[in-house]
Amino acid sequence: MIDDLNTSIFSRSPHGHRVLICVKGNCAHPDLGQALHQKMLKLIRRHGLDDPHHPHYTTCNIVQCLGVCAGGPIMMIHPEAIRYHQVDEAALERIVREHLLQGQPVEDLMLSPLSSST
Ligand code: FES
Repeated sequence: MIDDLNTSIFSRSPHGHRVLICVKGNCAHPDLGQALHQKMLKLIRRHGLDDPHHPHYTTCNIVQCLGVCAGGPIMMIHPEAIRYHQVDEAALERIVREHLLQGQPVEDLMLSPLSSST
């Protein structure tokens, strides 16, 4: 079911970044994920990333689990499939600035690509 949801989300945009934020509640309290989602939507609008013609066009959706289930809130950014953990507001602002706008993933905030429990 999660794969179906993710496939649906991924198929919406032919380009740009797709940000997924877990709100299931096992990695962190669901309210933290919801708050991050709202903050991310504001940052996306503030930087004009909601414009499909923007070179760093970005969408953001909440999801029910990203397969990590600890150390959350967990966020994943596609197409790179990079997962960030323990994302707070300061971390989120760095991720937007460095990853989404400058194309430089924030290494000290990311999970190893092979550290998933999936
Ligand atoms: S519950 Fe958040 S990653 Fe699984």
